[in-house]
Amino acid sequence: MYRIAVMVSGNGSNLQALIDNVHRNATVDAEIALVICSTGEAPAIERAQQADIRTEVVTMQAHGDRDSRDREVVRLLRLVHPDLVVMAGWMSIVTPVLLDAFPDQVINLHPSLLPAFPGMDSIAAALDWGSHVTGVTVHVAEEAVDGGPPILQEPVPILPGDTLETLSERVHGVEHRLLTRCVTLYAEGRVRRDPTRVRRMLVDEAGA
Ligand code: GAR
Repeated sequence: MYRIAVMVSGNGSNLQALIDNVHRNATVDAEIALVICSTGEAPAIERAQQADIRTEVVTMQAHGDRDSRDREVVRLLRLVHPDLVVMAGWMSIVTPVLLDAFPDQVINLHPSLLPAFPGMDSIAAALDWGSHVTGVTVHVAEEAVDGGPPILQEPVPILPGDTLETLSERVHGVEHRLLTRCVTLYAEGRVRRDPTRVRRMLVDEAGA
């Protein structure tokens, strides 16, 4: 069975989408083997525990700096032999300690059409910019923040009269669907790098 680890920091609605649509979906041969949370306070922990998924908390405070924190993350990940590590609302920069331990196996969810609006508060930034469109990106994680090649992207129109609440609701809805689809595609072996253009990810959606 394909083994997934999920890294979270907060609400965990995207973790919940993966629990409901991948972990508990008998038609996808995949399971969430571990959830790592960057804080002991997050609702995401409760969601993982409700689903009987092994949960670990790894805070910066306990480890002092990012490299030491990531060494602990890698140690915990190695215990469960993940095929894929999914950062689903993990709100901290990761280092090569993690990325080099799992090359091309760490992916990140981001609430914009990258490379527009990287970093924090991307939905508000798109609204404040006056953009007519924003969206969702799932990409391979690299050392640069929100910097790796996209795997799946989907636009979300910004409508006249949208507020942060109304736009966030639509973006999150797309996130839940896009992240589920991306992880399912990985589990089915349908994602690979383009051998002729190394920054391009090829996704075989036929039959998916
Ligand atoms: C999601 O919108 C995700 O894209 C974003 O955090 C939210 C987590 O929501 N991540 C980033 O902004 C990373 N740069 P959730 O905890 O309800 O899944």
